Amino acid sequence: MPFFIDGHNMKGLTAEQIKKIVNNPPDKHGVTHQEILYNEKENKLFCILEAPNKESIEKHHQDIGIKCDFILETSLAKTESLIRTQRFSAIGELSARVAHDLRNPLGIIKNAVELIEISSIYNTDEKLQKRIDMIKNAAERMLRQISDVLDFVRTRPLQLEKNSLSMILESSLKSIIPKSIKITKPYNDVSIMCDSKYLEVVFSNIITNAIQAMENSGEIKVRFIVNKKYVKIEIEDSGPGIPEDKIEQIFDPLFTTKPSGTGLGLVTCKNIVEQHEGNISFRNNPTIFEINLPIK
Ligand SMILES: Nc1ncnc2c1ncn2[C@@H]1O[C@H](COP(=O)(O)OP(=O)(O)O)[C@@H](O)[C@H]1O
Ligand SMILES: [Mg+2]
Repeated sequence: MPFFIDGHNMKGLTAEQIKKIVNNPPDKHGVTHQEILYNEKENKLFCILEAPNKESIEKHHQDIGIKCDFILETSLAKTESLIRTQRFSAIGELSARVAHDLRNPLGIIKNAVELIEISSIYNTDEKLQKRIDMIKNAAERMLRQISDVLDFVRTRPLQLEKNSLSMILESSLKSIIPKSIKITKPYNDVSIMCDSKYLEVVFSNIITNAIQAMENSGEIKVRFIVNKKYVKIEIEDSGPGIPEDKIEQIFDPLFTTKPSGTGLGLVTCKNIVEQHEGNISFRNNPTIFEINLPIK
């Protein structure tokens, strides 16, 4: 049986009518609802229906007493990809909103616990210090996950300016390098046309991954190798590398091997680098992430 998509304005619909749409086994006209999508911006309900023909859907609407903006026949393949895209963008929008709303209260928790830590510096109660650490670490972990989500879903056009890569590296290192990690920065510098905020996200994601892979102790080396048209940025760590069987997946959205990872870091890096008409790859022994960016 063919598939159709139709659209209704939510304004005209009663709860009873929506219920009839949602719980719709094949009716006497042979019409079944497969999927319902709600678009908040337009306040519209889109339905994917299986039905013998367009007329049967019109009769089905008459029975429930609802108006319809359009009915379009569509192939199943198209419908499925439409469902997936719409669902994915709805999830993206929702997570961006939730992430954004959580960031401020979490920041408050983190600041407050840091103040408690300072004011209890002479308190020798070990349990208290442990609990303070637990809250601090949990808040930091959540803030990191929120940044991952926001960096992934928020896209804006590049704001290209001539920027020094050393400066971008420097600002991305702020507050992420623990004392137990040795970092060797490039001896040279190069300026390229790029979006500095975006490249900061790339550097901090790759370096954070390196720190996590080395379990907080080891060495990171960053190099800028300048060719005529490209600059090659290498970020090397002394961690264990990426297991053979995971190599194919590390740039996939949501792929993570960490208990509180998001799997959004590297895919975000890849998107940003490709927006800059560059490419990103990595190799093992030692683990090196390599980014090539055009010098414009
Ligand atoms: N420097 C690295 N060393 C070893 N494994 C890495 C390194 N960088 C990334 N990975 C692997 O790639 C996966 C995906 O990374 P990423 O997209 O940043 O997501 P997340 O950090 O949230 O797990 C990580 O979970 C990890 O398994
Ligand atoms: Mg990461």
